[in-house]
Amino acid sequence: MPATVIVGCQWGDEGKGKIVDYLSGRMDWVARYSGGPNAGHTVKLGGEIFVLHLIPSGILRPGIRCVIGNGVVLDIDHLLEEINSLEKRGVGVLGRVFLSGAAHIIFPYHRWVEELQRQDVRVGTTRRGIGPAYQDKMGRNGIRLLELLDRRWLRERLDGELARVETLHAAYGRPMPQSRQEARETWSRHFSSVAAFLEPMIADTVTLLQDALDRGERVLCEGSQGTFLDIDLGTYPFVTSAPTTAGGAATGLGLAPRQLTKVIGIAKAYTTRVGNGPMPTEFAPALADRFRRQAGEFGATTGRPRRCGWLDLVLLRHAVRVNGIQEVCLTKLDVLRGFRSLKIATAYRRG
Ligand code: IMP
Repeated sequence: MPATVIVGCQWGDEGKGKIVDYLSGRMDWVARYSGGPNAGHTVKLGGEIFVLHLIPSGILRPGIRCVIGNGVVLDIDHLLEEINSLEKRGVGVLGRVFLSGAAHIIFPYHRWVEELQRQDVRVGTTRRGIGPAYQDKMGRNGIRLLELLDRRWLRERLDGELARVETLHAAYGRPMPQSRQEARETWSRHFSSVAAFLEPMIADTVTLLQDALDRGERVLCEGSQGTFLDIDLGTYPFVTSAPTTAGGAATGLGLAPRQLTKVIGIAKAYTTRVGNGPMPTEFAPALADRFRRQAGEFGATTGRPRRCGWLDLVLLRHAVRVNGIQEVCLTKLDVLRGFRSLKIATAYRRG
């Protein structure tokens, strides 16, 4: 049985959560393949509003099992909060969410480094430590979820990583927010006890999904952010640090490209962007302000005002090509009610 991939066609916030929730009714599994708590899905269900950052929104449908794959970077404190809040509201998580032991962990020092290197100011990041966590992963210094289960091992790993972070602070002439020794001791205790709580959810998610596909079960692969925030194919350097395009579903979950037989692209009927970087169809400030308030365009993760603009078909066409999108789901068309005429970009002219 094939797997279906959901991707954002713009700069994220296209309404993927809603569509994943809608399609979940026909799925057995929903699997998240990249990103971290920088993403935010808002789903309204039965009069209640759920904002999820890590757990796939498929969790809100009874019977669906969810996977957080190896391509995701995990803030496990955040994950724990999300689990507790869902359980409190009657959404069962235990036994339905499976975490890849190979997922890399975001530690507090990743947020320190993000601030130290001013990535938040340069790129306009979500300040969740995403970039530095992926930097460590690619630099082969990252600490993975499975490593948290052995406290002594974790303490040693943290000591080594904190030494590097200490050197970096010294190079920037800035003090560490917490001493290396104190951080090593408190974090090795704290993170290993959170991991012990999560242990029943840790699984070989690659085999889990491959076996599910062999049994003929249906898997929905949930992307985070949008095509133009992809580390390779996006508007670099104003991107996130992970693959957000359909190809990431293969490496981020351990599925073969030929198993991803359907790709659905989600696009807003207009364009939004949070953070810095080019946006060719951006509204002038007065219109942007009015439109943003009317459309409720504020970030689900940071509450930041989103930049707003007209629908850009140049972008959309490129997104369709690089993701292999077969169906496009256009969201938020109703927000454009009230405009006498709409503008749509069909080509760029060099200024
Ligand atoms: P980071 O992922 O926090 O490193 O941020 C990098 C860039 O991606 C910034 O421009 C963020 O505003 C943007 N970004 C990250 N996650 C999202 C999202 O879920 N929606 C929209 N923009 C995002």
